[in-house]
This record gives sequence, structure tokens and C-alpha cells, in this order.
Amino acid sequence: MAHMKQNEFEPRVLAFCCHYCAYAAADLAGTMRIQYPPNVRIIRTPCTGRLETEYFLKAFENGADGVFIAGCLEGGCHFTSGNLYAKRRVEYIREMLAEMGLEKERLRMVNVSAAGGRLLADHITDMVETIRKLGPSPLNANGHKNRLETAS
Ligand code: FES
Repeated sequence: MAHMKQNEFEPRVLAFCCHYCAYAAADLAGTMRIQYPPNVRIIRTPCTGRLETEYFLKAFENGADGVFIAGCLEGGCHFTSGNLYAKRRVEYIREMLAEMGLEKERLRMVNVSAAGGRLLADHITDMVETIRKLGPSPLNANGHKNRLETAS
């Protein structure tokens, strides 16, 4: 495992999980003792459609290296089409991030059912590994500072 230590960077990922599916899936993963990286902070949201653009931008401003959104399966949103709305919004914000000099991969949306504990854990693991490869967010001032400190 020593090779994994070569990069000291531990990504900080914020995960917005919809109450009805993804949050239930995260709960299930916990109950089933399915492991996923501890780098993720899960925030429950009533529906992904309720997530405003500013929540994502704030997350990056506050030092997140990645933001993950997990909603109900398409067609399964409890507010009809909140997740489709969120999907469009996420696509739009990914373009915005690119213009701000952030990699689009730092924002990702997935869809899982309440029974998708394993799938959600896999998605989260994949997200954390993606961010680990990208390195700290360019917007993350502390990340920069830490890197500068370790470099000197
Ligand atoms: Fe889950 Fe809308 S209720 S995404």
C-alpha cells in the first residue's frame, strides 16, 4: 500500500445525496458495511432539483476539491423531474467550471435507487480516485498553501 502514499493529497469531496434514493443508498451501504473513502462528506438534500448553482460554487469556494451529486434514477424522482433539471444544471455548471479554469470532472452527477448501496459506494470511490488524480482544486487556497509549504 506504500505506493498510495506517494501523493499526500487527500481529496475533499462534498456529496449531495437526495433523501429518497441516494441518501437511503448511503444508509444501506453503511448497514451492509460497504466501504467507501472517508474523504466524502454527505449532505442530504430533499431532491437534487432543489440544489442551486450557488451551492456548488460555494462548495468549491469553501475548499471542496470535488462535488458529487446523487439523485434518484431517471423517471424515479419524487418531485417528477427534479433530477432531470439537476442534470441540465450540472452540465451547465461544468461548462462554467471549465471557464473558471477548473476541470469539469470535479463536478459529477449520478443516479441510484434506494437499493443501490453498492453502486453508490462504487461511484463515490471512483469520484474520489478521479479527484485524487486531478490534485487539489485550483480554487482551493488552502490546498495551494499546503502544497507550497510542503514544497519549501
Ligand atoms: Fe431524488 Fe428528486 S427526489 S432526485
